[in-house]
Amino acid sequence: MKIAKTRKEVIDWTTNQVVGFVPTMGALHDGHLHLVRTSKERGLFTVVSIFVNPTQFNDANDFEKYPVNHHRDIEALLSSGCDLVFIPSVDEVYRSTDDPNKYKHDFGAIERVYEGAQRPGHFEGVGRVVHILFDIVKPNVAFFGEKDFQQLAVIRALVSLCKMEMEIVGVPTVREKSGLAMSSRNERLSPTQRDKAVLIFNSLSWAKSQFGKMSNSEICHEVAKRFEADLEWNLEYIDLIDGDTFESAQDGSMNIRAVIAAKLGEIRLIDNMKITA
Ligand code: PAF
Repeated sequence: MKIAKTRKEVIDWTTNQVVGFVPTMGALHDGHLHLVRTSKERGLFTVVSIFVNPTQFNDANDFEKYPVNHHRDIEALLSSGCDLVFIPSVDEVYRSTDDPNKYKHDFGAIERVYEGAQRPGHFEGVGRVVHILFDIVKPNVAFFGEKDFQQLAVIRALVSLCKMEMEIVGVPTVREKSGLAMSSRNERLSPTQRDKAVLIFNSLSWAKSQFGKMSNSEICHEVAKRFEADLEWNLEYIDLIDGDTFESAQDGSMNIRAVIAAKLGEIRLIDNMKITA
């Protein structure tokens, strides 16, 4: 596995390759490694980037506390079959010579609701960095986890808006045995919080089991009550949405997803579950 720190190294080592790309912010877990293996199974020269992108954090504390462990990440990637890991500095990604407008996008309504409403500017930062990374790595296929379901929709919008010739693959969420969605932020949970965090998966599963038996708003109300019962939780949103438009699901909506975000103490967790096909 090669380790690149500069754009030039990435360009040199990816020339003439059919590239599968897995962008990450490091603190890798099985969910990330599953994306790498999915890319390798398709026979792609697989590039992973590790870059904690400052422009997508609306909360300075969250950015500072984001777990970083390059040594452990490299060890994990060595056994996953990754061909090239790109670990750039902030200056290597955000060059003062680049046209700032080239990487600024408006994704419309989907970037302003749910995650976008809770984290103003977040998707602008994600769109900006992913576009820059796509320009450097020039992937044929890029892989993203469905845990960040709204991010996946924003990336698809980016590719369509900029008419990029690449395939975006959404990969189902990898979960711990308890059902807790794998996330780099889980590293910051205490053992007690880790046990409590299962409430998110349990609530999504319950919402799915009740869909069609109760109204959507009753389902969301009941879920909210479970979070309110423990003061360590701060529920930001729970909703059943149309997974294409990101509007609350209506009668007859197809592709319904339950989406949830909540803070457990200081740690913000999100998850989602497919309710209907
Ligand atoms: O999902 C992430 O880890 C990040 O948002 C991404 C896509 C690597 C952009 O920084």
